[in-house]
Amino acid sequence: MHLTDQSSGAGAFDRPSSGTTPPSTVAAATSAASRIDEATVLQRQLEIARLRHAAEVTELRRQVLEARKLAGLGELLGTTTHEFNNALTTILNYAKLGLRHRDQPTRDKALERILSAGTRAAKITASVLGMSRSSSARFEPVNLNLLIEDVLVLLERELMKYRVQVEREFAPVPKVSANPGQIQQVLLNLLVNARQAMVGGGRLILRLSHDQPSGLVDLMVRDTGCGMTPDVMRRIFEPRFSTKSGPDETGKGGTGLGLSACKEIVDAHRGRIRVESAPGKGTAITIRLPVQQPAS
Ligand SMILES: Nc1ncnc2c1ncn2[C@@H]1O[C@H](COP(=O)(O)OP(=O)(O)OP(=O)(O)O)[C@@H](O)[C@H]1O
Ligand SMILES: [Mg+2]
Repeated sequence: MHLTDQSSGAGAFDRPSSGTTPPSTVAAATSAASRIDEATVLQRQLEIARLRHAAEVTELRRQVLEARKLAGLGELLGTTTHEFNNALTTILNYAKLGLRHRDQPTRDKALERILSAGTRAAKITASVLGMSRSSSARFEPVNLNLLIEDVLVLLERELMKYRVQVEREFAPVPKVSANPGQIQQVLLNLLVNARQAMVGGGRLILRLSHDQPSGLVDLMVRDTGCGMTPDVMRRIFEPRFSTKSGPDETGKGGTGLGLSACKEIVDAHRGRIRVESAPGKGTAITIRLPVQQPAS
């Protein structure tokens, strides 16, 4: 802007055709004008470089988000393949049992087990398909109660194996405005962290409540695990901050990206995330999401 003003000012000096201006003044004015032209060109080049840089940053940010989403899906795939395999093993074993024992009660029992394992396998695939499908940034009315159950289907066995008892405290809550795949990812991270904090087992309390005055629904994940010191608590949302030495035997934990991704997702939902924790006393993480407003 500043340079453009100077350039129009130079235009006022640049009147050699009147014949009254001495040649030295004309030369000086011409060289000033060419310097101003050069500055304008430089200014334009700088602006183009700045725009190009901004576009590159936007593209890189998009790629990082995409990579994080893929990493999340990769982790999910690990968990679900394992769970799916468990269901398949049950189906195969009971089918063999039914073939070996021809009496009616054994066959009935085998078929019942096959049916329930098959239903579970179907739920697992539906849940994974749901998560990968809703990986776009679309928001929709979400029933958190059902979403929690979908995520628990995937972790049920793992929680049982680590002697974690799940307790549900669900008050009736309205639907929230959310991207279901992203909120499932948040919940998965919180549940895995809770499970990892409870070495030797414990209680995992999931609570849903509606805070009418704020128009938010609270989803709390509380564990009776090791808890955190104030120093750790201050840093948990930093990308790459982890107190874990690496992935555990289920292949999870240690990258330090879980909670930073959770925060990013909750922020994008214009929600809040609150952490309460004390060493030896367990941890409660609450995510608060806006209630879906009725279409006007
Ligand atoms: N429920 C919890 N109880 C105790 N500490 C926790 C809990 N949740 C998170 N933390 C602490 O916060 C840190 C960061 O958690 P975050 O989920 O971001 O990373 P991570 O679990 O270490 O690795 P990953 O990114 O693979 O999940 C953890 O390393 C742990 O120290
Ligand atoms: Mg984690």
